[in-house]
Amino acid sequence: MVNTTIKTAKSQEIFAAAQNLMPGGVSSPVRAFKSVGGQPIVFDRVKDAYIWDVDGNKYIDYVGTWGPAICGHAHPEVISALHEALEKGTSFGAPSYLENVLAEMVIAAVPSIEMVRFVNSGTEACMAVLRLMRAFTNREKIIKFEGCYHGHADMFLVKAGSGVATLGLPDSPGVPKSATSSTLTAPYNDLEAVKALFEENRDQIAGVILEPVVGNAGFITPDAGFLEGLRELTHEHGALLVFDEVMTGFRIAYGGAQEKFGITPDLTTLGKVIGGGLPVGAYGGRREIMSLIAPAGPVYQAGTLSGNPLAMTAGIKTLELLQKPGAYEYLERITKKLADGLLQAAQETGHAACGGHLSAMFGLFFTSGPVHNYEDAKKSDTAKFGRFHRGMLERGIYLAPSQYEAGFTSLAHTEEDIDQTIAIAREVLSSL
Ligand SMILES: Cc1ncc(COP(=O)(O)O)c(C=O)c1O
Repeated sequence: MVNTTIKTAKSQEIFAAAQNLMPGGVSSPVRAFKSVGGQPIVFDRVKDAYIWDVDGNKYIDYVGTWGPAICGHAHPEVISALHEALEKGTSFGAPSYLENVLAEMVIAAVPSIEMVRFVNSGTEACMAVLRLMRAFTNREKIIKFEGCYHGHADMFLVKAGSGVATLGLPDSPGVPKSATSSTLTAPYNDLEAVKALFEENRDQIAGVILEPVVGNAGFITPDAGFLEGLRELTHEHGALLVFDEVMTGFRIAYGGAQEKFGITPDLTTLGKVIGGGLPVGAYGGRREIMSLIAPAGPVYQAGTLSGNPLAMTAGIKTLELLQKPGAYEYLERITKKLADGLLQAAQETGHAACGGHLSAMFGLFFTSGPVHNYEDAKKSDTAKFGRFHRGMLERGIYLAPSQYEAGFTSLAHTEEDIDQTIAIAREVLSSL
């Protein structure tokens, strides 16, 4: 039996002070552990697959700063490239060769992208892509899916998945009705519902945006034919198909979900991995559409720090590391082992559970499933997940603090890390 009495005095002290300084004590809501209960731990440093908190406890990390750390935290090659780049300054606000290098890498990797624009977050990428969808089609309405998150811009805060679900808010106050009146929603994996929306709104729908594999309502994969069906429907109705690959890009395959499933959207948003741990987002697509972006075209979008040399450097180095032979085979192998092991441990200890993985992304729901959409995901026993999460944390395993988040592995996770995680999970699950 592992000793579960970890000391968290410093974490508690810092987090208590933080609550007087920042709303909820955090810079982003899910970090406050509201949906799993208990106090968050306060990080001191991260390295490879591990976190150390301010009290000196060590954890195996399956959050990876919410996706970017696919090569492991503070990879020596990324850090050394950043040191070199730092000497040349932190921001140019002017063209730099590094932007060309990362742009070429993204264009070569992602099937739908012929031109790309760099921004500073996934939220920004999704906001910009929405403006572009509307400008290109001269239509206003969009279709999104229940449980999919596309950042916190007003127009997307309708049935927006984890962050909002975690707080139990159906929507956010402060979002004007006018901002979401053109946002239509359908259940994920429900082609008939999408068809009906297209019929009811003929010639008014600019496009369909989705997470091609959902990570913000827990981990949910597209049913056979769903992505193909969306591609056909959007073609048929003169609408654009947009894959939000902020989470899946360079994670479930080097070319993202579109490479994995062989479906090419018109536009794609990226973030997380392409910044290698620094703030980056990007959007791209067919040249004909991207040429509408200012200053090539009339659609305005700009950013003081966009394309900054540090973020470009971390992104380039991260993608180089991912190009090494065997990288995705390794991610697939360890993640399958982890996802299968967790599910088996849950079932053998008598819990209703389902789950799965795709390359370096995985999930486990406390419901017998199957989970095809957000409504199915909501049948999960979130109170049990909270107890599971706390038990894992106390034994040195850091999982995303919400039932409605996917988990992430990295090249730095070892087979021993995975074995240890499964063994600890079995112990915690037996005690629930
Ligand atoms: C699919 C998806 N889109 C957009 C975003 C927003 O990205 P950011 O948090 O960088 O603004 C996220 C963040 O988790 C995401 O998972």
